Amino acid sequence: MKQTLIIKAEQVTQPDILKAIQTIIIGGGLVVFPTETVYGIGANALDKEASKKIYDVKGRPSDNPLIVHIGQIEELHLYAREVPNYAKSLIQAFWPGPLTLILKKQDIVPYTTTAGLDTVAIRLPKHETALALIQGVKLPLAAPSANLSGKPSATEFKHVFEDLNGKVDCIIDGGPSSIGIESTVLDCTKEIPTILRPGAVTQSMIERILQRPILDASTLQVEDAPKSPGMKYTHYKPKGDVTILYGPIEKVQEYVSSQVDSSIPTAVICASDYELLFPKVRVRTLGYLSQPEWIAKQLFSALREMDEWGMQRIFIHSFPEVEIGHAVMNRLLKAAGYQTITL
Ligand code: TXA
Ligand code: MG
Repeated sequence: MKQTLIIKAEQVTQPDILKAIQTIIIGGGLVVFPTETVYGIGANALDKEASKKIYDVKGRPSDNPLIVHIGQIEELHLYAREVPNYAKSLIQAFWPGPLTLILKKQDIVPYTTTAGLDTVAIRLPKHETALALIQGVKLPLAAPSANLSGKPSATEFKHVFEDLNGKVDCIIDGGPSSIGIESTVLDCTKEIPTILRPGAVTQSMIERILQRPILDASTLQVEDAPKSPGMKYTHYKPKGDVTILYGPIEKVQEYVSSQVDSSIPTAVICASDYELLFPKVRVRTLGYLSQPEWIAKQLFSALREMDEWGMQRIFIHSFPEVEIGHAVMNRLLKAAGYQTITL
């Protein structure tokens, strides 16, 4: 157990605090920082020992590459090469923001950061503290989501603290993440850009900028999509048994009440519109169907609460798969280990 320095986001720009963080990063240490998507565990992306530490602390398989976070657009060419014109258009439209681009890597990026791949994932976050930190330390930060491997990504300080206090050198408390779901990962190494992980920058938003169709590999069976190594691991899984229920709400309601067993703690996760329909089980609402961004934002906290509440069975009523709802269902299906029932 090491001593973890806990600081508030507003303190990052104080010269003495920034100096302390810089010393940690240059010395190969780990700093957890907030972004607009989820919290990240940051280390110097150019230091192979430092990025290796991230894998150890998370318990992350070493073939799952990290995202390199930069502080300004101009740094892109230091770490990536052969940036296609379409990627430049997307950068102009969506950076800073929740879009990660996969590009061919420059030699300076070590293979521990890219998990042996010749490509690198790069993102410019839209978060004042994250940018102040990256620009302040003057180094790119490799940063995966700040959760232990397999657990839901951390979108609140208390989740980060639970998972990583005593394991990292510093945690920056930036309050709840505004988006709450990890960035869209887009493979830009081919002629047709391909979504590897859906996020808040959606397929239609990208197609609108490029004026042509793109591909989405995130819906393929896991075995068919080896390009994003992260896709093959179990993610976000609460301890209880999770099932996604597809179908009209009346049928879902009927099914849940037929399953109620007072000896098995059971919960339903659903839209706030349906809050009162499941009186016999614990209900966790994520937000109204008219506010899909709110649903995305609450998702990971709700999954963590299932463990806090000791739920053994968790039924999730499927959410509409439009726009950000596609990313929401992608995460929920992983949390359920793809266990679904259509009613
Ligand atoms: O929003 C986010 O992206 C957050 C915040 C902290 O920025 N980070 C994050 O990192 O979600 P992580 O490590 O949990 O997810 C990175 C994803 C994984 O699915 C990984 O396989 C994929 O990006 N990835 C990284 N480098 C890649 C590469 N060179 N080729 C294909 N996929 C890659
Ligand atoms: Mg992750």
